[in-house]
Amino acid sequence: MCGIVGYAGTGTAVAGGPDASERPLEVALAGLKRLEYRGYDSAGVALVGPGRPEAAFAKKSGKLDNLVAEIAAHPLPAATAAIGHTRWATHGGPTDTNAHPHLADGDRLAVIHNGIIENYSELRDSLTTDGVTFLSDTDTEVAAQLLAREYRAAGDLATAMAATARQLTGTFTLLAVHADDPQTVVGARHDSPLVVGLGAGENFLGSDVAAFVEHTKEALELGQDQIVTITPDAVTVTDFDGAPAEGKRFTVDWDAAAAEKGGFDSFMDKEIHDQPHAVADTLLGRTDSSGRIILDDLRIDESVLRSVNKIIVIACGTAAYAGHVAKYAIEHWCRIPVEVELAHEFRYRDPIVDERTLVVAISQSGETMDTLMAVRHAREQGAKVLAIVNTNGSTIPRESDAVLYTHAGPEIAVASTKAFLAQITAAYILGLYLAQLRGNKFPDEVAQLFDELRDMSRKVQTVIERGEYVRATARSMQAADKVLFLGRHVGYPVAMEGALKLKELAYIHAEGFAAGELKHGPIALIDEGQPVFVVVPSPRGRDQLHSKVVSNIQEIRARGARTLVIAEDGDDAVRQYADEIFWIPQAPSLLQPLLAVVPLQIFAMALAGAKGLDVDQPRNLAKSVTVE
Ligand code: AGP
Repeated sequence: MCGIVGYAGTGTAVAGGPDASERPLEVALAGLKRLEYRGYDSAGVALVGPGRPEAAFAKKSGKLDNLVAEIAAHPLPAATAAIGHTRWATHGGPTDTNAHPHLADGDRLAVIHNGIIENYSELRDSLTTDGVTFLSDTDTEVAAQLLAREYRAAGDLATAMAATARQLTGTFTLLAVHADDPQTVVGARHDSPLVVGLGAGENFLGSDVAAFVEHTKEALELGQDQIVTITPDAVTVTDFDGAPAEGKRFTVDWDAAAAEKGGFDSFMDKEIHDQPHAVADTLLGRTDSSGRIILDDLRIDESVLRSVNKIIVIACGTAAYAGHVAKYAIEHWCRIPVEVELAHEFRYRDPIVDERTLVVAISQSGETMDTLMAVRHAREQGAKVLAIVNTNGSTIPRESDAVLYTHAGPEIAVASTKAFLAQITAAYILGLYLAQLRGNKFPDEVAQLFDELRDMSRKVQTVIERGEYVRATARSMQAADKVLFLGRHVGYPVAMEGALKLKELAYIHAEGFAAGELKHGPIALIDEGQPVFVVVPSPRGRDQLHSKVVSNIQEIRARGARTLVIAEDGDDAVRQYADEIFWIPQAPSLLQPLLAVVPLQIFAMALAGAKGLDVDQPRNLAKSVTVE
């Protein structure tokens, strides 16, 4: 997600210069440069210095170069404290106005933010009633105006920040500077990262250590619900009630390059580990206080959605497999027929589309040309198009009737992982929303299913923590030259995604099948030692599915296959037929893909790594296929 930098210090800290210096701006821009890898679509800085009545700031959409050019054209004054921000747009598109920092209190207060504030619309209404006028579409500006109101009451920035943090729900890291106190930066964190860099006569803040590791390796990790105040010579930590609290001291043992990956060996590994957040963040802000599902960007009239009699999902690659999972869930919950079409096939198929067809376009980048062309074709045929996209302000949402953004944050590795889980999560949200709207499910049923969905983030984390056994198995299989993947029901798209991951990353021929298809031909592929992954449905799920898949495992094992089984904790029926078992926590049948795919992602990454391949930039592939 967004990149954050904070600095409090003066030129005297390094070169005996004047109190106010260029160093705060230099540190802020250099830190943002180090955080570029996080992906962003706008950037900005704010500075405060002695004798200046307001915060000075600059912010621009686009890349850091645009910000640097803006500052070159309109130089900023010497300062003693600075905050800097790279924004990955969630609420509000990537524009100059929506870029951070956001100013308040007569431009004396500047605020930057990383996260999603769930209750921003209620707070915005309350502030508007108090006469506040908003310039942007962002939740951050709401936080800035709330902080300004608390500052006017408290007269102290740290106290005001704590009062503000207590009123927010969602995930947030906030940093603020105020012209009244030009040597101070105050931060607050809840569920979003913030670390302190400890210098000599200067101190730093960052969304991760990459922001300041070139200046100091001495750091302080902040805990949940903490307020931090940095000045050139002091760091103070309290809880949200103002009581003294402790951060956790550590010494950074990464170099700056490694820090960009959060200490992981690859962006892909980092993004696999980001998946619990990707699921949780995609769910944030999707229900109101009564538990009803609310979709803020949905610009399709409810009456139109009630009249929908067919859904066609269009997507490519991994996104298409997310669409296949969506098919099972939406058909089961909403009783609407769902077709899943590869976007590049859809537009040449003369599809049967009319005004009662809802086309759902799934895309991480929002720029895949095949999918964009299919969206245009669908709209020409009179269909309404709803986009499920991860990149705010990209082309596909702009050309759709509605958008349901995933909040996976920028996905840097070419092979999609966290975006896939976020796409599935968004598809579940859409399915539950339609079931709620069309009366297929009572409100209490929707609320219960949504609670089960919220619990999946924790279960994804459990699967990740079991990853070492998967990695070890992968490392022992470097010689594999073809691998099969089997699954039934929602396990079938998981099998196809597992095969795609192995193809993309380890350059091994791999194929995903519906397990029931085996005896109609593919079983001829089974010979001694042939590795076959099998995704086993929950034994508590749809009747017979589980027993049929166990029979499939028996069939291939009898013919010499090496069976690598993904199964739920406690599923003892698979033990006697599995050469390897990768256990996942129990979960509702339709939600199991969020868990079952994770061992397959880890396996593909580990095998590719063992072969010395580049898991972030596999050969021949691009992150966004913007040509047909
Ligand atoms: C996924 O690992 C691949 N990189 C690829 O299949 C990707 O999912 C596909 O190109 C669609 O991209 P999109 O989600 O950005 O539209």
